[in-house]
Amino acid sequence: MIEYVMEIEVVTLFPKMFDGFLAEGVLGRAIKKGLVKINVYDMRKWAWNNYRAVDDRPFGGGVGMVIRADVIGRALKDLDIKSKRVVALSAKGKRFNQEKAEELSKVKKILLVCGRYEGFDQRILDNMVDEGVSIGDYVLNGGETAAMVVIEAVTRLLPGVLGKDESSREESFSKMDGKRSVEYPQYTRPEDYDGKKVPKVLLSGDHKKIEEWRKKRN
Ligand code: 6GU
Repeated sequence: MIEYVMEIEVVTLFPKMFDGFLAEGVLGRAIKKGLVKINVYDMRKWAWNNYRAVDDRPFGGGVGMVIRADVIGRALKDLDIKSKRVVALSAKGKRFNQEKAEELSKVKKILLVCGRYEGFDQRILDNMVDEGVSIGDYVLNGGETAAMVVIEAVTRLLPGVLGKDESSREESFSKMDGKRSVEYPQYTRPEDYDGKKVPKVLLSGDHKKIEEWRKKRN
């Protein structure tokens, strides 16, 4: 049996949204290498009525539809949540950041539940999941793109997922006073593009000077 570094399960109304995402780039490679296992499930699998409805009108009135607690409840029962960290992607959740990504990267099994419409029945958030997570102060149509953000930020922290070059770059951040390479300006060839030149210090070969320049320029 393969021992994955991490197993992630996703419950969503739009499983196909994940196809390209899971096939490409760093994450696609990690999955092919067998470092990460990701299973995507269609939430309708757990709908019980004739229309396969996962949502219903809000009690008390108001616009839109709400994801039913009983549908998510059946999903969670089936997916053996006792051994997993269950995270609901919800605009009402706690803000996702690098610290949360690092925390989740230490968990072996994560189950991500994506909402749609006006969100989840509050009983899901209160009693059935470990936590709700939001990726920022804006409104999305659903949790799928947010789940992809979480998956990408978490899996790139797992051992073996980034190439040697990429991970040593990560480690060098602490030497740069915690400054990340994405936070200072970067240049590559050509040295002169339409008269716009690369800063001289970067071509000097003086690593001490370059480090000083990068610390100042962010
Ligand atoms: Cl996780 N879901 C939705 N629907 N909107 C969001 C979000 C999540 N995070 C920020 N906005």
